[in-house]
Parts: sequence; structure tokens; C-alpha cells
Amino acid sequence: MKGNAAIHRDFTVAQIDNRLYSAFIEHMGRAIYSGIYEPDHPTANADGFRKDVLELVRGLKIPAIRYPGGNFVSAYKWEDGIGPQAERPVRLDLAWRSKETNQVGINEFARWAKDADIEMMLAVNLGTRGIEEARNFVEYCNHPSGTYWSDLRRSHGVEDPYGVNMWCLGNEMDGPWQIGHMEAKEYGRLADETSKAVKAFGKGIETVVCGSSNDQMPTYPDWERQVLEECYENVEYISLHKYFGNSSRNSLNYFSKIEETGRYIQAIGGVIDYVKAKKRAKNDVYICFDEWNVWYHNREQDSKNWHEWDWPEAPALLEEDYNLEDAIFVGGLLNEFIRQSDRVKIACIAQLVNVIAPIRTKAGGSAWATSIYYPYQFASLYGRGTALNVAVDCPRYSEDAAQDVNYLDVAGVLAPDGKSITVFAINRSPDETMEFNLSLTGFENVQLIEHKVMGGDASEARIANTHDAPNRIVPRAGEKLGVVDGAVAGELPAFSYSLIRLSVA
Ligand code: AHR
Repeated sequence: MKGNAAIHRDFTVAQIDNRLYSAFIEHMGRAIYSGIYEPDHPTANADGFRKDVLELVRGLKIPAIRYPGGNFVSAYKWEDGIGPQAERPVRLDLAWRSKETNQVGINEFARWAKDADIEMMLAVNLGTRGIEEARNFVEYCNHPSGTYWSDLRRSHGVEDPYGVNMWCLGNEMDGPWQIGHMEAKEYGRLADETSKAVKAFGKGIETVVCGSSNDQMPTYPDWERQVLEECYENVEYISLHKYFGNSSRNSLNYFSKIEETGRYIQAIGGVIDYVKAKKRAKNDVYICFDEWNVWYHNREQDSKNWHEWDWPEAPALLEEDYNLEDAIFVGGLLNEFIRQSDRVKIACIAQLVNVIAPIRTKAGGSAWATSIYYPYQFASLYGRGTALNVAVDCPRYSEDAAQDVNYLDVAGVLAPDGKSITVFAINRSPDETMEFNLSLTGFENVQLIEHKVMGGDASEARIANTHDAPNRIVPRAGEKLGVVDGAVAGELPAFSYSLIRLSVA
């Protein structure tokens, strides 16, 4: 089949916010304990963090990380995680029916984030707690000195404040499973007042209010309207969450969930515009898609187990072995975020290590990259700059999740220096090679820097990277694409994801 695309230097979507490639990590399962933190591990640094994991994390060049939850945050006392580690209380984590030892708290996590060169984005507990504890947490983190909370931080060995500028106002407060779940109006009021208190600590502070937990929630999208009507002028972002799966083993339907997500983003964009107009507001609110990923391989197993557990410490939860099909899906979802980067400013892959994650570890053993590590890495490394409008002409298909869906999924980004373009191109067809042609208007001297491919054979869709075989799904050099007369021409293999980097003048 043929897939044609066209880019024009002057037709752009938006300046991409680098935080589009952020991540999320929660005190859940083995994300923290035996994920990033394992003091007895042979590679552990002086702070107890695994250096092998840090290396994989650094390879992703993650701009920001949301912490410490997730559902966990809604019953969490951040004060349990400060001061001498030996004196910290062990608590029951109600969200995941686990034991929380509090050996990692804000100061340990901040050291890890600094080592990994990632900015922190912190969530406050608005489930069992409220404005008072949130303002104390911000004061502990951000105030220089001379007050109870800032001096307490200094007494814990942290002289300089962290200057955390991104604060999430609770987590998934629309979900009946959430400890402290609320009605939209009451949450909107609390979020508004908490946001005011959090922002009192400094000019650069931005807050994220909870939107729906997903677009299937019965309260969606009226939740967003009601919440924003209470707090629009005091927040910068509204969060969206969505997890994906392919239990029906239908790849094309799976991939079309990306179009469904596009509609989700547009619907919330519409709600934002509606509330802005209704309130005659001057400020803009953007989308922070702060939980997204594939989550289904272990769902059944997880739901059977964790309700019966006798409060284990760091149990294996949601440890997905991602396969080739998931890698193609994740590349496509990142393309959608790029295409909608005028609305979506922050997005966080959920999560980072072990729990539905691009990085997995064995306690005491190795760490490895799952298949989805690579498209996420490519987007983060090369998807920065200006999102280009890419016009596409190709055959289409229809499935349950969406109709009239392109077989060719493509996004294009012009680098900040204007000297290179990166194209992320997916041929979704399980069995047909795509003759790909990309015309580039307004660019001179187009040259191919590199072409990397994942996939090419749908019979390998369910092959995954695992502990024993960590390198089955990795990118390889592409051989069938080139530049002819200033345009990209060649083949995209069936069922494949491509990174195409071009130098331009
Ligand atoms: O990421 C796993 C969980 O999914 C998070 O704790 C929660 O916010 C969401 O429901």
C-alpha cells in the first residue's frame, strides 16, 4: 500500500514542551524498593540507589518525574519519610495493600532525581489530608530557612531548598477506589484553595488539578467542567489518565485506541475552552496527561492476588513483559501527544521501573529495557522542538475503538536549531509493506542522518523482552529508506515503527 505525507516548514502545531516526555513513579509494588532503591544490590551507590537502573533512566533523558503517587498518595503522610531512616514508621499502604517502610522519602528521592537529572513534580495528599499538610510539604521543600518546616529540612542535611515548581493536587479524585474520593464540586473547591496555598510559596509554582481517571468514567467529561468551574483561574493544568490493552488480540483495534485518545484530548480541550469563556478568564489551562501506558498483560493476575495479600513489603505488582505490538502502540501514542502538543504540555509514562514500566529489574540481579523503552527514548531524545503539521494520505480501516483510521501514523518535529527534522512513522498494517513518500517544503539540502526500525513481522507481535531474553525487541538500522530529490522515499515494513532523522537547511 502507499502512504504519502507532506510537511511544510511554516505549518506548525506548537512549540513542544519538553515535559511531554516526563515519567511517573509511585510507592507501589517494586517501583521504588528493589526498583530504583536496593541498598544491598551490587551496583548500589552510597544512597542505596541502583546504578544499573540509573544508567537506563539517564538514557531516557526524562525532563520531569511525578512522585510519590498515584493511589498511594491519597493516604500517605509525607512526614513519615523524613528524618533518620531507622526511626521512620512502617505503615500499611491502603491503596496497594502493602507494607510501606518509608526508607525512601522526599529527601532520598530528591537525591535520586538529581543524580538522574530529572526535575521533581510532587503530588500532595488530598484524600485523607488537606491544605494544611500540603502547605507544610511545600514549605519543607521550597522555603530557604528560618521557619519550622524549612529548618527541619536543614536539620535533615538539606541546606538548599528544592524549588519544586510543579505540584499535583491529589490523584484520581473522581475514582470511587480512591481513598477520600469526592464529588466534582467538593474536590474543585478543595483543589482551588489548596492551589492558592501552594502558590503562596513562590511565583514559578504551577499546579495540576485532577481530571477524569479515564474517558470511560461515568462522570467524564462533566467532572472536568465542574472541577474547572471551581478552580480555573488558580491552576495551570488539568490531568488526564488512560491505560490501554489488547485483550482481544486485535492489533488494528488496539492501535486505533490512539485515535480514541485523540478525541479524549480534544473533548477536554473543548471543556477547558468552555469554562474559560464562561468565566471570562484571561489565563489558559493546558493538559497534563500524567498517567499513560499499556496495562493489561498482568491485570487478571494482579486483581486476584493483591486483595488477598497479607500486607507484603514491595510485592511484584503490574510487572508487564512488553512486546513488539506494545512498542508500536507506545510510539503511536507519543505521536498523538506530539500532534496535540498545543494542548498537551506535560505527559508522564506510568510508570518508570517495574510497575507497568519501560525498565525492569530483578532484585539482586540485572536491569533491562522492555520493548517500550525504545520508542519512548527516541521521542524524548529527538522529539523536542516544534511539532510540525503532517498531512497524510493513505488507506484507512475501521475498528470498534475508532473508524476511518490511517494505516500510516506519523509525527514530525523540527529541532530547536532548525537544522534537523525527526519523523516517527508507523505502518500499522499487519501484512503489507508501505511505499512511503514524505515531501518536505521549505527545507533545503535534505539528508538522511539515520533510520531505525522496530518490527517488520506481525507474527512476532507478542514477543517480549524478558529477564532471560532482554534484547529480543530492539531497534535496528533500516535499509530501505532514502532521500530522493529532497523527499523521503522508500519502504516502511509491515507492522513497524520507524525513527527517521534528517538534516535540513
Ligand atoms: O499507575 C497505577 C495506578 O493507576 C495509579 O496509582 C493510579 O493513579 C492509577 O489508577
